Amino acid sequence: MGEKFKAPRGTLDALPADQPIRRAIEDVARRELELAGYGRIDTPAFEDTELFARGVGASTEVVQKQMFTFTDQGGRSLTLRPEATAAICRAYVEHGMHKLPQPVKVWTSGPMFRHERPQAGRYRQFTQVDAEAIGSDSPLVDAEMIALAWDILEGLKVPGARFSVGSLGSVEARAAYLDELREHLRAHESKLSVEVRERIDLNPLRAFDAADEGTQAVMADAPRLLERLEGADAEHFAEVRAGLDALGVSYEVDPTMVRGLDYYTRTVFEVHADGLGAQSQIGGGGRYDGLVEQLGGPPTPAMGWAFGVDRIALAMAGDVEGGRDKATGPGGVFVVADDDEARARALQVVTTLRRGGVRADLDLAGRSQKGQMKQADRSGADAALVLGAGGGASVRDMRSGEQRDVDPDAYVGELTERPLS
Ligand code: HAM
Repeated sequence: MGEKFKAPRGTLDALPADQPIRRAIEDVARRELELAGYGRIDTPAFEDTELFARGVGASTEVVQKQMFTFTDQGGRSLTLRPEATAAICRAYVEHGMHKLPQPVKVWTSGPMFRHERPQAGRYRQFTQVDAEAIGSDSPLVDAEMIALAWDILEGLKVPGARFSVGSLGSVEARAAYLDELREHLRAHESKLSVEVRERIDLNPLRAFDAADEGTQAVMADAPRLLERLEGADAEHFAEVRAGLDALGVSYEVDPTMVRGLDYYTRTVFEVHADGLGAQSQIGGGGRYDGLVEQLGGPPTPAMGWAFGVDRIALAMAGDVEGGRDKATGPGGVFVVADDDEARARALQVVTTLRRGGVRADLDLAGRSQKGQMKQADRSGADAALVLGAGGGASVRDMRSGEQRDVDPDAYVGELTERPLS
């Protein structure tokens, strides 16, 4: 026997049994987003490395440590996308989408890649559902998008989903604040962890995330960006909050929220859920008013978010049945054959049912009739159609166990409104 292979470290096989819940997540998201006028966009799984270096930010951990980067045969540096936002902005600029009515509302879903230390809920390939509204700075966009995220998670009944919202202000306001924060950190430098000390210049906001006691004590009385918001920034945040309140979204205000990507301005938000341990963040996003311009487009404000499908599936793991109902609807028909002659007809019946849009299946392992009935039950079918010798048939209701004789042609015709082929 040859050597057995395993999926690469930090990756996940989503087996058929895992799919109902994953599909429910995507289906609910798609329905809500399409009702709200978001159109599907798909971009490649890899891009020029420079797009992410510039878009996501050279000082971020994502760019410094987590990118899967390779050189193609032409000597170009390419990177598997660690997220969707920079790529969608690239597409917006490349296809002149600023000429369309604004904002351009798009969504996507697909695999993202980050070379992180694997643990439960943290993978090197994971799936995101992502939505972006590009071309408006209205606080109504922020409220609409956060409320959509809320409605999607409510629709899925994700256990313990909690929203927190913050604001980082404009680029200029943030720059002034960051100077103030650096001063505070330098004044207490000896108490900080080595990691935080090394990042005072590059990314002082990260200090709010530190796990060590020394840094946490210093951060307890550090200046807060939210308290420094002024003028148009403060007004924008107040309007976002008023919008969320009017839409019935519950959230807490987090004055020290730090997102892992550099492009955020003004509104930021995160969603956490129960039962996930350290990786409790199931989604997050915010406004990124400078990114499109940074990627060579016209000055264009924008807002977006992304959810981790794998993490939401984990959080919903106890609710597979619920997920199945939401995803697949009625269970269809399992065709049971009495003898070899009926077996040959069973595939014909099943094919006709499927062509008529009815979910249908049959035994392909030579089981006895009793074994086939067991299989019918296990498959979740609503009914078993038992084909007898000599062309007769009966239908068993799998819920009530009631059985009645039927004419197979008429039964199939009734379900599909088509004659048996
Ligand atoms: P993010 O917070 O980096 O934001 O990722 C969004 C979500 O993806 C996270 O909340 C998490 O659920 C999931 N996720 C991230 N990394 C992993 C991982 N290694 N394993 C499993 N799940 C993961 C963004 O990516 C932004 N592009 C969101 C955005 C869109 N902002 C504006 N527009």
